[in-house]
Amino acid sequence: GADVSKLLAKTGLVTYDPGFANTASCASAITYIDGDAGILRYRGYPIEELAEHSTFAEVSYLLIYGELPTADELQAFTGRISRHTLLHEDLKLFFNGFPRDAHPMPVLSSAVSALSTFYQDSLDPFNDEQVDLSTIRLLAKLPTIAAYAYKKSVGQPFLYPDNSLGLVENFLRMTFGFPAEPYEADPAVVRALDLLFILHADHEQNCSTSTVRLVGSSNANLFASVSAGINALFGPLHGGANSAVLEMLEGIRDDGGDVKKFVERVKAKEDGVKLMGFGHRVYKNYDPRAAIIKKTADDVLSAMGKRDDLLDIAIELEGYALSDEYFVSRRLYPNVDFYTGLLYRAMGFPTKMFTVLFAIGRLPGWIAQWHEMINDPQTKIGRPRQLYTGPTTRSYVPADQR
Ligand code: ACO
Repeated sequence: GADVSKLLAKTGLVTYDPGFANTASCASAITYIDGDAGILRYRGYPIEELAEHSTFAEVSYLLIYGELPTADELQAFTGRISRHTLLHEDLKLFFNGFPRDAHPMPVLSSAVSALSTFYQDSLDPFNDEQVDLSTIRLLAKLPTIAAYAYKKSVGQPFLYPDNSLGLVENFLRMTFGFPAEPYEADPAVVRALDLLFILHADHEQNCSTSTVRLVGSSNANLFASVSAGINALFGPLHGGANSAVLEMLEGIRDDGGDVKKFVERVKAKEDGVKLMGFGHRVYKNYDPRAAIIKKTADDVLSAMGKRDDLLDIAIELEGYALSDEYFVSRRLYPNVDFYTGLLYRAMGFPTKMFTVLFAIGRLPGWIAQWHEMINDPQTKIGRPRQLYTGPTTRSYVPADQR
């Protein structure tokens, strides 16, 4: 309700840009997005090519170090990660302090924050060796922390990582396996999860990544910065959207499956209801990640022998919205989260874990962006300005006279 032009005149020369929709906070060589054309590239490589040919480990290396690794470099990288997957036994005690029904996202961010207390030898943001060590530690330990957050929520024992396994298999075993019982992950699930991690690995200056950079700009260490990013990702307008989509689809199914009725409620902005998994700040075209996921969702679900009534509702809902004037005129298309929840569900993850999976996927992007920020001579502490709307000077009145 404030008259912005008057406030600007009083403040002097500042830009007023709510949500930073038109403000570049940094220069970056990591991820390229053309939102109008629906293009996404990591370090110049189209997401479609990486999705088809690469792996999450390789993409993580690419994002963090800038180039695709040679076979030897990749082996050295994954070998180092494998050697750091264990959590300190004392850190494991943290999980007992949370309520059993705690959401795993704050558990994840708390445990990542606590890494600063266990690894005090790698906290100097300007010491390359220390940064490298905390990078590997974080990549290695986040999946273990995520699996333990799940195990805690279902009351099952923690499994030590099995470092003969790849990153995704190891994570699936720690999540769904039992001690002293053999566990073999379904190769279709391993490949699908690896693909989903690739698609989430970076997305330039989104809310959580900007948070990581902002916190890091105070020279806070990598663990502290990433922990803040995880909290930003927790919000339903960001990473929390993938679970919100599934809840929305279940709601439509339980209400008789009438897609049209739901869309009418969205258009009327009834109770602020939104079509979750639709719309994006940057994409004003089909999100290229959603296109890849949609293509694979059907294949993967049938390979896993899981036909899903919610997938049918999602496809119908998408078709309906894409031909409706409300969504067309606002250029609202499905985003990455529209189909991911269906795949996560088919893999056996409860809804609460969906955003945790997003965090595992996004981690290499956060790390790459933090590295770039800390090494950029242009970086200054993040400190936006404001337009003040409060009272002008007032005199203090003692409590007994108010
Ligand atoms: N359903 C219905 N209407 C929508 C939706 C939606 N999903 N998204 C945007 N709109 C409408 C808004 O109400 C607004 O309409 P108006 O002009 O009549 O006021 C118009 O489209 C513009 O939307 P904004 O909210 O201004 O767009 P913004 O860029 O600020 O927000 C966001 C983008 C947050 C993603 C929004 O589209 C949204 O809330 N989507 C649903 C949540 C979601 O799926 N988030 C995941 C994003 S992707 C990610 O984090 C991986």
